Amino acid sequence: MSNLNIGIILGSTRQGRVSPQVGEWVKGIADGRGDASYEIVDIAEYNLPFLGEGTGEEPGLAAWNAKLSSLDGFVFIVQEYNHSITGSLKNAVDSAREAWNDKAAGIVSYGSTGGARAAEHLRGILGELSVADVRVHPTLSLFTDFENYSVFKPADLHLTNVNAMLDQVVAWSGALKSLRA
Ligand SMILES: Cc1cc2nc3c(=O)[nH]c(=O)nc-3n(C[C@H](O)[C@H](O)[C@H](O)COP(=O)(O)O)c2cc1C
Repeated sequence: MSNLNIGIILGSTRQGRVSPQVGEWVKGIADGRGDASYEIVDIAEYNLPFLGEGTGEEPGLAAWNAKLSSLDGFVFIVQEYNHSITGSLKNAVDSAREAWNDKAAGIVSYGSTGGARAAEHLRGILGELSVADVRVHPTLSLFTDFENYSVFKPADLHLTNVNAMLDQVVAWSGALKSLRA
């Protein structure tokens, strides 16, 4: 196994969210590969203030930055809210800067159209933070990969795409590590 640490970031924080189911599914696939150390990173656990509204001294803010700094790459679990990413994910992204830079990321998204619109918005945001987002992008449908929009039952075909996405995230995370002193 490489010494790469990859965080699987849950992008939603609402009560009743399905992102933990999706994140655990990705982690299960990732852990089976044996090529990096994968962990779930749950924004909700950090109690981040809205940027600029707190004191800047909140422990969760420092912990969030420390967690991101410990990671070499990311897999974002992205859900579509009003054709974009959640406010909580945007705030979490905005709540760090250097800790994102020169790292790689993959996106797994879901929504009525696979979360594609939210994922494309995230790609634009990641560019500003010098995060290299990989091409392969598993898209999950609320209609066919979930029962009652709440119980995650992914179609088998997504397994190939998740592994292909992880291949790219691991390769780029390793390559970009050499850029960071
Ligand atoms: C405020 C809000 C806006 C939403 N807007 C969209 C949308 O524009 N497109 C879409 O496909 N799904 C939309 N949805 C449905 C969500 O993608 C779906 O509820 C998904 O399960 C949310 O992820 P979560 O359970 O992890 O919070 C919206 C849901 C919420 C709560």
